[in-house]
Formats: sequence, structure tokens, C-alpha cells
Amino acid sequence: MSSFWSGWVLILTLSCLALIVYLLLSTWKVQRKDTTEETVGHDFDGIQEYDNPMPMWWIGLFVGTLIFSAIYLILYPGIWPGKFDGILGWSSTAELKAAQLKHSRRYQPIFEQYTATSIEDLQENPKALAMGKRIFLNNCAPCHSSDAGGTFGFPDLTDHDWLWGGSPEEIKQSVLHGRIGQMPAWGMALDGADIRNVSAWVRSLSGLTVNANAIEMEQGKALYSKTCAVCHDIEGKGNKLLGAPNLTDDIWLYGSSQPLVEYTVRKGRTGVMPPWNEVLGPEKVHLVSAYVYGLSNEPSIESSTTESSVEEKTNK
Ligand code: HEC
Ligand code: HEC
Repeated sequence: MSSFWSGWVLILTLSCLALIVYLLLSTWKVQRKDTTEETVGHDFDGIQEYDNPMPMWWIGLFVGTLIFSAIYLILYPGIWPGKFDGILGWSSTAELKAAQLKHSRRYQPIFEQYTATSIEDLQENPKALAMGKRIFLNNCAPCHSSDAGGTFGFPDLTDHDWLWGGSPEEIKQSVLHGRIGQMPAWGMALDGADIRNVSAWVRSLSGLTVNANAIEMEQGKALYSKTCAVCHDIEGKGNKLLGAPNLTDDIWLYGSSQPLVEYTVRKGRTGVMPPWNEVLGPEKVHLVSAYVYGLSNEPSIESSTTESSVEEKTNK
């Protein structure tokens, strides 16, 4: 709170207190001490008021609240936050810190134990995976969707198709430090026909039917070898060091139709996976990575990482 508003609240509080004390004292002086049948003289719709003293219990309560507020202002911040924070030194920040400390004392040993366990071994630990799932739903689901199936521009994390690699270390690396996939824009360097032909060629790598004749396909192929193969590999299998997708598996981050592929080639694409080390800390990153790894690696089925299961799971 700015010091202006602190001052404003301070003036309001103190003048209110002073006014109330003044009111109490001034009426106390003129007040009679005995009870009487006389009225104070005014009449509201036939209702009159005896000129009797205030009941003592009421005055006691009133003075009690005044004393309470004075003590409160001395113990807690209120008089001049930032300058005088009350003799108890209470603050909501300190209270939050204490709660966080208590929480981390309680969970730290569990986290440490999980962090010391490899991502493969955590697959046998349903409690750890449940924690990983909760972290995923809270942080990752907005982009990768709650079933981790991904959407346009956000990769499916349940298949065996990885931009940056699907080993425990590679997944953890993706989550810890983030990834930026940089597909250059070719709209300036290539003309419309080139883009059409190379897009058709790329789509044919996934076995899609394309609307191009043999000459156009030859041109597309030649252009691919010259300009695209550096990143996407000469056979189109991609490059995990660059996050360049495999173009032969019919799994598409940005759509498989001819116009969408042409758009990708013309304008380029930049997929940004944010880094999580700072946000979640290494322990939670470890747990959520274990959860993500488990989505495509059932602990009991060792063979699930083979090529055959890649073909079963084509999305989009
Ligand atoms: C702001 C959106 C966003 C959030 C939130 C997000 N991601 Fe990502 N993530 C992406 C994008 C985009 C990519 C693809 C990057 C690229 O195109 O190379 C990606 C890629 C990944 C990859 C690599 C996939 C591959 O095929 O190699 C993993 C693993 C991953 N994310 C896990 C997570 C986890 C775990 C979380 C939560 C802690 C998370 N992501 C949160 C956007 C997000
Ligand atoms: C400098 C390396 C590089 C070059 C050269 C390159 N690409 Fe890419 N390409 C990438 C990366 C990285 C991505 C992933 C972008 C992302 O993650 O957002 C990508 C994505 C794509 C996609 C989208 C795939 C999908 O799943 O939706 C297509 C299609 C594509 N590239 C085609 C091409 C073609 C055609 C060429 C040649 C004209 C080419 N690329 C040249 C790095 C490259």
C-alpha cells in the first residue's frame, strides 16, 4: 500500500477513535446520575425517551471496544505500516512464509526420496505418479490439454513421437529448460510453385495423397534435399537436437492438409515450450517428467517403445 493510503487510513482510524472518546466524555459530563420519570423532551411519532443515564454494562462494553482497538493498533500493523508494524511484528508475508516452510518441511523428505529415484523406477510408484499428474494438471494442461493429448501447435505427449526425444533425460531436459522449435519462413526465398511442390513432396513422405504430377514431385524432392534436409534429415526422419519433426509419420503439429503445410513452409513456425526449473523447482520437474514418461511407457510392457507402436498411434 502506498504511504498516501496508509496515511489516509491512519487519519480516518485515529480521528474516528478520538471522536468517539470525545462523544463519550462530553455526554458523560452532562448526564444525570439517577433514574427519573422525566423525558428528554423530544417526541418521534409518539415515542418519547426517559432522561436516564446509559446502562453501565453498555458503557463498559463501549469503553472495552475502545481499549481493544488501541491495544490492537499497538500489537498489529495499522498505525503506520512500513514504519511501525506493531510490537508483535506480524505480517501476512511472514505468515505465508511460515506456512510454506511447514509445508516444505513436511514434503521435502518425500520429494527428496522421489528425486533420488530414477524416472524409470518411479513408474512403479503410483503415489509419485499421482503427484506428477497433479503437477501436470495444474501447470501443463492449459497447453498440452488435460489428457496430454496436445492440440494444434502443442505436441501430444502420450504418443511415441518426440520432437526433442522421449528418454527420461530428454523429457526432463525439455521441462527443466524449455524448448524453442524454430522452423524458418521460406516465403521470401521460394516462389509459390516451389512451396507447393516441396509441401506436396513432404506430405507424400507420410503417405498422404497429393495433387501433383511426377515433374512437380521431382522438383519438390530436389528442393527438399537442398533446403530442408539439413534439419529434417535426408529421409525426413527429423532431428531431435533441433526439435525438427519427423515428416514421415503422419503426425502433425500444425496440420497435414496441403494449405496448412504450405502455410507452415511459407511463414515458418516457432513452438515455445516454457522452462519450468524456476517455477516448479527440480523436485516437481522430476515428478512431472516421470508422469509424462509414463504416459507412453507402461512399466510392464518393455516393448512399447518399438517402432510398431508408433504406427498404431497416429493422431490428427
Ligand atoms: C505455454 C504452453 C505450454 C505449457 C504451459 C507447457 N508446454 Fe510443454 N510444450 C509446449 C510447446 C509449444 C511445445 C513444443 C515445442 C516445439 O515446438 O518444439 C512443448 C513441448 C514439450 C515437450 C517436448 C515434447 C517433444 O515432443 O519432445 C515436453 C516433454 C513438454 N512440453 C512437457 C511439458 C510439461 C511437463 C509441462 C508442465 C510442467 C509443459 N510442457 C507445459 C507448450 C507448453
Ligand atoms: C533450420 C532448420 C529447419 C529447416 C531448414 C527447415 N525446417 Fe521445417 N521445421 C523445423 C523445426 C524446428 C520445426 C518445428 C517447429 C516447431 O516446433 O514449432 C519444423 C516444422 C516443420 C513442419 C511442420 C511439421 C508438423 O508436424 O506440423 C513442416 C511441414 C516443415 N517443417 C517443413 C519444412 C520444409 C518443407 C522445409 C524446407 C523448405 C523445412 N521444413 C526446412 C526446422 C527446419
